[in-house]
Amino acid sequence: MNDIFGTDGTQIFRNRAALSSKYVPERLIGREKQIVELALLMRPVMHNGELTNVLISGNKGTGKTTVVRFVLKQLSNNVENKGLNVVPIFINCQKISTTSKIIVEILNKVSPETEVPRTGLSVGKYYRTLWKVLNEKRTTIIVAFDDVDSLKDKNIFNEFNYAGENMSIEEDVFIGIVGISDNLFFPEKVEQNIFSALQHRNIVFPPYNKEQVEQILDERCAIAFAEGVVDEEVITLCAELSGNEYDCGKALRLLESAGAIADISNAEKVTEKHVLLANEEIEKNDLLNSLESLPINSKLVLLSIIKLTGKLNDKVTTGQIEMLYRNFCEHLGMIPLGRTSVSGIVSEFDMMGIISAPVRSRGRYGKTRLISIKNNQKKIEDILYRDYRLKEL
Ligand SMILES: Nc1ncnc2c1ncn2[C@@H]1O[C@H](COP(=O)(O)OP(=O)(O)OP(=O)(O)O)[C@@H](O)[C@H]1O
Ligand SMILES: [Mg+2]
Repeated sequence: MNDIFGTDGTQIFRNRAALSSKYVPERLIGREKQIVELALLMRPVMHNGELTNVLISGNKGTGKTTVVRFVLKQLSNNVENKGLNVVPIFINCQKISTTSKIIVEILNKVSPETEVPRTGLSVGKYYRTLWKVLNEKRTTIIVAFDDVDSLKDKNIFNEFNYAGENMSIEEDVFIGIVGISDNLFFPEKVEQNIFSALQHRNIVFPPYNKEQVEQILDERCAIAFAEGVVDEEVITLCAELSGNEYDCGKALRLLESAGAIADISNAEKVTEKHVLLANEEIEKNDLLNSLESLPINSKLVLLSIIKLTGKLNDKVTTGQIEMLYRNFCEHLGMIPLGRTSVSGIVSEFDMMGIISAPVRSRGRYGKTRLISIKNNQKKIEDILYRDYRLKEL
């Protein structure tokens, strides 16, 4: 029991942090054009000028987040050297999505000494505190909204944009907005709503090709893995399994998981078999996580299945499920769906491979389904309970 971390054997990883999604590489492949374009739009702040708002869009894993982080990091170094009062702020809207939380985040970066309650003030009061701090400190901010589609109240763009015009902020203080979206249709939707009033430029990130993804993986391997541990076939397979349009994020996740599997199984190298196992694991997790965005009725039906199969430790019928589902609806003050719809939802879960629900004949009593949950019962339950409405059930 001396070596419970098993670090005595062969070494797979050298620096695993280089595979994390937060890591910003020193060199980016195939994105020179987008980097230069973005930097040019930010450039006026180097001379106390106003910057252009930008909307960045492109498929998943095309380097949007990384390029913005890369450019903001360089900008941050540059303004620091020049003694300019410009603060770049990066907001992940999947994590921070309300106006008050975003403003608190900005205030923390611009003026850590300003005390402001995290919640409880009116939105207007949060805005006024922000304008006051920016004016007092004469600070220009550049706010990147990553995964902007998750933002709860998109009015924040208008408020930021008009702060200058309606003289809430001084003439030499500016607020620049960078929106990032993996929804290619978002520019048009935004056009109709909020960005229409904003002067802004669009930068589109095209998909990478296979060679580019392989080169990105190659360079990352040299930092993240011990020498000679990852062969070219492994890299090719990660690229191929990352999707038709090569999602570089998925390719790197595959590589890291394959490495982890090789590591715990004390293998000397990462093999294609490890990549295939990693792929299975990732796809299973993606499927389970997708349950989080199901409509409430589907979640309640699934929760009923979980509760019943857990309690009865056996296969259950649609009738039993429907009864518990109706109880849940009553508890939540909802009108329950009818039997046919519940049955339809059960079949969908069957097709997704979440449950097994073969139809059995009951002689003259007709047919019924015998439902059991396949596996990952606990994980599914945890995911369902991420929805606060289900907490009390
Ligand atoms: N040009 C590049 N050079 C090196 N690494 C890159 C490059 N583009 C992307 N990556 C790496 O690929 C991964 C995915 O990139 P990133 O998260 O920036 O994509 P994204 O377009 O923001 O995806 P999503 O829409 O899923 O958020 C990151 O780990 C990043 O380090
Ligand atoms: Mg991203």
